[in-house]
Amino acid sequence: MEDPELLGTVNRRCVVFSLLFPRLSRYELSQPVKRSAHKDLRPLEQPMQRNVRDILNLYNPNDPLDRAWTIPSPWYFDPAIGELEQQGVFAKSWQVAGRADQVRGKGDFFTADLAGEPLVVARGEDGQLRAFYNVCRHHAAAVVTEAQGCAKQFRCPYHGWTYGIDGALKGMVEFEGVCDFDRAKNGLVPVRVDTWENFVFVNLDGNAPPLRDFLGAIPGIVAPLQLTKKLKYFDRRVYTLNCNWKVYVDNYLDGGYHVPHAHKGLSSVIEYTKYTIENFDRACLQSSPLSSGAKSESGVAATRQGRAFYLWIYPNFMINAYEGVMDTNLVLPLGVDKCAVVFDYYFSDISKKALKKNRASIKVSEKVQEEDEAICDSVQRGLASRAYVAGRLSVRREAGEHLFHRLLHADLTHAAK
Ligand code: FES
Ligand SMILES: [Fe+2]
Repeated sequence: MEDPELLGTVNRRCVVFSLLFPRLSRYELSQPVKRSAHKDLRPLEQPMQRNVRDILNLYNPNDPLDRAWTIPSPWYFDPAIGELEQQGVFAKSWQVAGRADQVRGKGDFFTADLAGEPLVVARGEDGQLRAFYNVCRHHAAAVVTEAQGCAKQFRCPYHGWTYGIDGALKGMVEFEGVCDFDRAKNGLVPVRVDTWENFVFVNLDGNAPPLRDFLGAIPGIVAPLQLTKKLKYFDRRVYTLNCNWKVYVDNYLDGGYHVPHAHKGLSSVIEYTKYTIENFDRACLQSSPLSSGAKSESGVAATRQGRAFYLWIYPNFMINAYEGVMDTNLVLPLGVDKCAVVFDYYFSDISKKALKKNRASIKVSEKVQEEDEAICDSVQRGLASRAYVAGRLSVRREAGEHLFHRLLHADLTHAAK
C-alpha cells in the first residue's frame, strides 16, 4: 500500500522543486527513497545504482563559477552517497590519521578510524613508522584498544594473541595442533603510511599515487610558515556536529562570506575586503591581512595577529595559522547527518608562562567553532527541506566551494562506475 501522506509530501515537493529548479526535477520524480512503500520497486541493487548515478548527475561540474550551482541537497543526506564517499573518497585518498609527535619514539602508537576501518599506527624498534588494520587475525577483535601509548608488543584482549610493534604475529595461546597455519602470514595487515610536516597520513588504497604526488603544490605553500621549526602541539578538542561533513567543509570554503555575519569577534580583526582566495589542484588557500583597532574584540586581537592563513586540503583537512598560533581541523563523517571535527592546537611557545595566552587563544577558537556549529546544524536541516535543492555561488567569495564540489563529483562518479 502506498502511504498517501508520504506521496502527498513527495508530490508537493515535486511541484515546489520543479518551480525552483527545473533542470533537476527528474530527481524527485524518479526518487525511490521517498517511495519506499511503492510496489513497483525493482530488485534492490538496480534502483540503488540508478539512484546514485541520478543523484550524481544532478551536478554539472563543467559550469564555470559564474553559472555554477552547489552540489544538490541529496548529496548531503542520501545514505548511498555517504557510502560512496567512504569507498570513493576516504578509502582512496591520503588521510590525516594523527600527528608525528604522537609516534616519535620506538614503540609509540596511536589508533584511528578511517572509512569505517580501525587502524593502528606505530613506530617499530627499528625506527620505522608503520600502519596496520587494527583487526586481529584470529577472530577480528581490535588488538589495540587505547587511543595512544607506548608498547613493546600488542596483546589482543579477546584470546591473548600477541603481535610485535612491527605487526608480526608473535604468539598464539593454546593453538598447538592447528594444521596449515603459517604464523608468518598472519601478522596485522599493513596499510600505507607517510608523513608530511607533523601530520601522519594513511591511505587504504594500495594503488594510490604517493603522498608527495597527492600533496602537489601544498608543501611549497606551507613552507613559509616553518611549522616544524616554529610551532609545537599544545592541545586537542573534538566537536560533534549534527551536519553532513561537507556542510562543515562548505562553510570553511566560502571565502570569508559568512565572517561578518556569523563571527562578529573574528570579523573585528579580519580585513574582509582584502580577503583573497586561491585555488590549487586539490587545495584552496584563503588569506587575509589582520588589523585591530578600537572596535576590535580584545581577546581576538591579542591572539589573531599578522596574516590569517587558511589552507584546505581536499577533502577534509584544514590548516589555520596566524602569527605564532595554528590549529588544524580534520573533518570526519559519522553518518550522513553527523560529523566530528578534530581541532589540534599549536603555539610557538608552549611553556608555562605562555599558558594563559594559549588558553585565551583556544577560547577565541571555541567561540568561532560554536558560531559555525549553529550555522552548520541549521544548514543541514535546510538541506532536507522541500524548499531547497541547490544554490548559486558568489563569484567573489565561493571559488573554493566550487573546487571542492568538482573534485568530489570527479571522485564519486569514478567510484560509481
Ligand atoms: S580475536 Fe584476537 S586473539 Fe582471538
Ligand atoms: Fe566560520
